[in-house]
Amino acid sequence: MNQDQKKNKVAEAALDYIESGQIIGIGSGTTVHALINKLETVKSKIEAVVSSSELTTKMVKEKKIRVIELRESGMLPLYIDGADESNDKRQLIKGGGGALTREKIIANSSEKFLCLIDDSKYVKTLGSFPLPIEVIKMSQSMVALEMIKLGGRPVYRNDFITDNGNIILDVHGLEILEPMALEQKINNIPGVVTNGLFAMRGADNLLISGDDGIKNM
Ligand code: A5P
Repeated sequence: MNQDQKKNKVAEAALDYIESGQIIGIGSGTTVHALINKLETVKSKIEAVVSSSELTTKMVKEKKIRVIELRESGMLPLYIDGADESNDKRQLIKGGGGALTREKIIANSSEKFLCLIDDSKYVKTLGSFPLPIEVIKMSQSMVALEMIKLGGRPVYRNDFITDNGNIILDVHGLEILEPMALEQKINNIPGVVTNGLFAMRGADNLLISGDDGIKNM
């Protein structure tokens, strides 16, 4: 199976987690796009969706499913999203699509975070995928310097502004042995809005799509 086929399979498997009458959180990225394209079959169960990006909002609305704000929904029973990497503790790197801040807010506001990946994203140590950091533009060079001190190689994401009006630095070359400590350390740098480590609030269920089917971790 190629990666797209694996994404489709794992998106299909996620549908079983949606229960009647729920308001669900939905993330961003191509795996989530595969999920949204399958929502038709479970649409009657979904009360409304809280969305993590403008693109997700548009796609969900096109399916004629109601999108509401987090301030209207309160705590959510379920959040479904993809990731760029996961380790065996279900700690993640996210933000390849740049929607990390809203994703982290929704993950943190959800009782269950169901994460969907294909097996190429399951790693022993996080960091091969460059760690995205959403940064207020004014602090770009200062945050970059701090990341160099932490052993990383920050690269400005060209021609990209987040839904919140900020820039992204993608930090290459980090070998993330202590994800929670690093997540906190980066959050403490002035000008950092969010970093793409989801370790303090990782996933509760991880569905991994491979040639042999779906593994639930
Ligand atoms: C979006 O900002 C990301 O966090 C995505 O969840 C992540 O990049 C996974 O994306 P794909 O499903 O496109 O691989």
